Amino acid sequence: MLTGKHILLVVSGSVAAYKALELVRLLRRDGAAVTAILTAAGARFVTREALAAITGARVHDDLWAAEAEIGHIRLARLPDLVVVAPASADLLAKMALGLADDLASTVLLATRAPVLVAPAMNPAMWEHPATRANLASLAARGVHVVGPGEGPMAEPESGPGRLAEPPEIHATIAALLAPAARPLAGRHALVTSGPTHEPIDPVRYIANRSSGRQGHAIAAALAALGARVTLVSGPVAIPDPPGVTVRRVESAREMLAACEAALPADIAVMAAAVADWRVAREAAQKLKKEAGAPAPTLAMALNPDILATLSAHARRPALVVGFAAETERVVEHAVAKRARKGCDWIVANDVSGGVMGGAANRVHLITEAGVEDWPEMPKEEVAARLARRIAEHLR
Ligand code: C5P
Repeated sequence: MLTGKHILLVVSGSVAAYKALELVRLLRRDGAAVTAILTAAGARFVTREALAAITGARVHDDLWAAEAEIGHIRLARLPDLVVVAPASADLLAKMALGLADDLASTVLLATRAPVLVAPAMNPAMWEHPATRANLASLAARGVHVVGPGEGPMAEPESGPGRLAEPPEIHATIAALLAPAARPLAGRHALVTSGPTHEPIDPVRYIANRSSGRQGHAIAAALAALGARVTLVSGPVAIPDPPGVTVRRVESAREMLAACEAALPADIAVMAAAVADWRVAREAAQKLKKEAGAPAPTLAMALNPDILATLSAHARRPALVVGFAAETERVVEHAVAKRARKGCDWIVANDVSGGVMGGAANRVHLITEAGVEDWPEMPKEEVAARLARRIAEHLR
């Protein structure tokens, strides 16, 4: 319920602006008061009269008129949440830069309330590096993002950039403003992250390119929703997430032992890039390069599969989520992996472009219900969205 909550809705220029009316209806039906700001471009797609009628309040669309009536600072201070829906590429760029040349951008710069943006634009604009960078810097500043989805657009074109549907935006708003925005309170989540190091001898090891960023972001996002989180991390160069218990390990076998020691758990998210093989016999002393001697051949042994082990465990967590980094036929391999490993969900990501270790991820979520294609987004946003989905699932 949003009773007593005040939402300031900024409607910017997009064909999808008509959906803002439906969003207002959902929010008011849920008890929220909604005040709207309409940008000049937004007014090309939806009328101020329609917005006024549906919000039941006057619509603000002019910086200088607003100044005379209540002032942009007061307007910025009123709401519990500012929602920008639809958020155009232009308005997101202004927000990222801190520009303030109209009422919407000025209020967005002046507000201390949390901000949620629901981007809507053409797929090429969404995928442009400028928009990617703007979204990343907004997300890093704590701006919440919902959507966009994929699907048919106004142009005869399809792809990411479609405004999230009003019920999804409404649900995100409700989650952000819920008195208990800690739906995972009382739950224990086990998360693995980072690579493993498989020793060859006391000074050498075999590793992979995992940075741990996605797994660490998931641990942080689950903790933010109130879960008690145990993060079992391989060697990484990034800081520990706040509010999380971190167990540091090196090899896959150590990672499995740390995971089993952390049970029972309600949720397991296995985001670590666990080495499939280890060197069968770790040398007790450093291998020496002898003049004229051939290079050593390393015999390998299979590592335990932590995900499969936890999925079949006597103390199996209620929800087990695995990852699949694939370079080809991503979804097909991930669907097969879900069945093979016995986990509930798989987050599949395409690492064919050598994107492992990068800031963003483009993933598919494979659940019992099917396959969801998520647009590329910062790893923090993938984590927040996954954490919300986990909370919904366990509710
Ligand atoms: O089999 P593959 O390595 O592609 O599977 C990836 C998923 O399995 C990830 O969730 C990863 O954390 C997990 N995994 C594991 N133990 C292994 C290998 C992978 O838990 N030995």
